[in-house]
Amino acid sequence: MNILIIGSGGREHAFAWKISQSPKIGQLFIAPGNTGTAEFGTNLEIGVADFKAIRKAVLDKKIDMVVVGPEVPLVEGIHDFFLADELLKLVPVIGPVRRGAMLEGSKDYAKEFMMRYSIPTAAYYSVTKDNLEQGISFIHSLKAPYVLKADGLAAGKGVLIIENVDEAEQVLRKMLGGMFGQASETVVIEEFLTGIECSVFALTDGKNYKILPVAKDYKRIGVGDTGLNTGGMGAISPVPFADEIFMKKVEERIVIPTVNGLHSDGIEYKGFIFFGLISVNSEPFVIEYNVRMGDPETEAVILRLKSDLVDLFEGVANGDLADRQLDIDADSAVTVMLVAGGYPGAYEKGDVITDMDKVSGSILFHAGTRISGNDVVTNGGRVLSVSSKGKDFKEALKLSYQNASKIQFKNMYFRKDLGFDL
Ligand code: AMP
Ligand code: GLY
Repeated sequence: MNILIIGSGGREHAFAWKISQSPKIGQLFIAPGNTGTAEFGTNLEIGVADFKAIRKAVLDKKIDMVVVGPEVPLVEGIHDFFLADELLKLVPVIGPVRRGAMLEGSKDYAKEFMMRYSIPTAAYYSVTKDNLEQGISFIHSLKAPYVLKADGLAAGKGVLIIENVDEAEQVLRKMLGGMFGQASETVVIEEFLTGIECSVFALTDGKNYKILPVAKDYKRIGVGDTGLNTGGMGAISPVPFADEIFMKKVEERIVIPTVNGLHSDGIEYKGFIFFGLISVNSEPFVIEYNVRMGDPETEAVILRLKSDLVDLFEGVANGDLADRQLDIDADSAVTVMLVAGGYPGAYEKGDVITDMDKVSGSILFHAGTRISGNDVVTNGGRVLSVSSKGKDFKEALKLSYQNASKIQFKNMYFRKDLGFDL
């Protein structure tokens, strides 16, 4: 089977690594891919939302399945584009249709969905310019801090948590005034929940589902979860507090009602559902939905997946996921992200990366690298993800940290305290 992966980050490198191990794989293509994915398949110079060019590649390369990594093409309707095309409609797409992708593409839609299906989540009120006064009253009815979310996609930057009530009111006005462009024409105001977060992933064919290994990601740049938010500084799987009792609650109160709710709404959802959860006194609440795998969680979770990922994807496509085998390694897996100095602010690109060949016992997934002459050089804020397994997360982290410190590039930085909170 020929497979095309859409995307260019560490998550897609991890997919390529895993998919290339499948006995079912024929040729593997990645659009646009990165230095790491090139080791397992052919990179195609095509943007993730260039549907016309993707169509041409699928036909030219005789692609049998498309696996979508990031949210943007899903929210823009890549799956619907395939279904509407005579020549593409029989090529399965792993990733939901546009209406399913709205769970990530519109926070207002996601909240309304959760309310309708009694899925535990923070209290909220959605505001546009037309009901600003009611929005301000809602803010005043809450206790600090105040959570304001741009409704639409804002590259992970659309959530603001504000301590002061007057400032919250001002920021609400700014958001509605175009602070995040169209994405904040609607703003979701939420009650603040206090707890510890984790990421739960399910794969579904629209009726059946499989729950993949749970993970925790570390979003802040600084030690002790301080400083600015990043695309993710590392991840750990499993998460000690997400024990069997907690995961049973997650399955019964969140996963099942979500899968059934989508089905009742007439949405044939085929792909990953990412539940961004918070445990409040051991009770799970949904903070957000994403309609894809997490990054960097994938770079840890995938190491624990013993089953053939292509077989699971076939189950998604054929609607017989229930008959496919999901085996998960009891060991822990972690990933540590190496980033460019200055990130998530301004940082340099083009610095030569050396000593990657000295890494042993860990896997390197490329996030932002590029080939320049005979060198591999940095090409993004998040550069490389060092993934390892161990009998517990501490052992796995030790290995990732040992290998991380062998790699060198100018102003390389990584967090040395992952797992500090567990
Ligand atoms: P989101 O993009 O919706 O995942 O939000 C980004 C981050 O903001 C989350 O990972 C949480 O740390 C935080 N957050 C979002 N909503 C809430 C909430 N209702 N209560 C507390 N923290 C929140
Ligand atoms: N790690 C969080 C995300 O992928 O959105």
